[in-house]
Amino acid sequence: MAPIPTRADKFSFGLWTIGYNGADPFGGPTRAPLDVVHAVEKLAELGAYGLTFHDDDLFAFGSSDAERQTQIDRLKGALADTGIIVPMVTTNLFSAPVFKDGGFTSNDRAVRRFALRKVLRNIDLAAELGAKTFVMWGGREGAEYDAAKDIRAALERYREAVNLLGDYVTDKGYDIRFAIEPKPNEPRGDILLPTVGHALAFIESLERPELVGVNPEVGHEQMAGLNFAAGIAQALYQGKLYHIDLNGQRGIKYDQDLVFGHGDLQNAFALVDLLENGGPAGGPAYDGPRHFDYKPSRTEGPEGVWESAAANMRTYLLLKERAAAFRADPEVQEALAASRVPELSVPTLGSGEGYAELLADPTAFEEFDAGAYFDGKGFGFVRLQQLALEHLLGAR
Ligand code: GCO
Ligand code: MN
Ligand code: MN
Repeated sequence: MAPIPTRADKFSFGLWTIGYNGADPFGGPTRAPLDVVHAVEKLAELGAYGLTFHDDDLFAFGSSDAERQTQIDRLKGALADTGIIVPMVTTNLFSAPVFKDGGFTSNDRAVRRFALRKVLRNIDLAAELGAKTFVMWGGREGAEYDAAKDIRAALERYREAVNLLGDYVTDKGYDIRFAIEPKPNEPRGDILLPTVGHALAFIESLERPELVGVNPEVGHEQMAGLNFAAGIAQALYQGKLYHIDLNGQRGIKYDQDLVFGHGDLQNAFALVDLLENGGPAGGPAYDGPRHFDYKPSRTEGPEGVWESAAANMRTYLLLKERAAAFRADPEVQEALAASRVPELSVPTLGSGEGYAELLADPTAFEEFDAGAYFDGKGFGFVRLQQLALEHLLGAR
């Protein structure tokens, strides 16, 4: 029996995901534009709870105030009719020609000022719609050529921009936090804040670091050859997982935006296990939206759009079931203990112990038998991973 998504699962989709028309650098659209009201109705029908969007997804760049308002009102009507919410809003600082060298970090100061105004206006809309998270993906914040961008100056301008946005939400009393979305490249040759780690370090340099976290995307970390579940674990450890973009990616190449689980399935299993069972007391480690930022394949017609949207949620729920079974299996518990996984939570030093006590402890060094580790007992990690794989395959 495949699990059925419900609102309680907190699944959300970007309007630009289900609305992707199939255009790519090599050819035009394969699907007609998707109307926002239809999108909201379909998501409600499929069991999602949220819709997210860029300003330009809802009303075209350069829309008049009246056109903008019409679309906002149509969205609000659909939300009221269905109960769908808007947990996150984001700003398009990448599609219009004006942003080809970035928004917050364009070499052109007038563009930077325009970008800030566009974001401020969109933050007002986010607050009006009750969104709690404002994502910042800086796809055009970067360069192709080393001489073209003073990276330290660009980071300083990025910092100036995010500090200003922090001032704004604070002064307005908005209940909104920001989430920076790292990506290594595409569309720029190299993007600023390319990985979760870069973003976490940058956030600590801000005036209001508590207002800013990360929105890591599966494919973006994997494009850099990194382990996504491990990156999420560090973001959680540092209290910075404010949002998440789920999708699938197969290796180090262009951003594929496949359905969640259609890439590195074992890492997707580890991720769901972490999010759902990795909390301090074994429960969920993250309670925010499970947001899908994927693209329905260019080969699909309108039906394939909704099939792929449903596939994201089914895969997540199937992995959640398999992860629960993995945790509940006594043999897994025994294998975890044999691999000494719980022992890593025991502090290396005893209570009150410092370097003097460590230096005075002969069992730590003089009497310690390091030689016993040659040709001795291993950790048993392979057995543990095979148990995880067998649960993932539904074989246990
Ligand atoms: C991408 C990004 C975007 C962002 C979106 C929200 O690679 O295109 O993932 O889809 O998530 O702009 O800020
Ligand atoms: Mn992406
Ligand atoms: Mn994304």
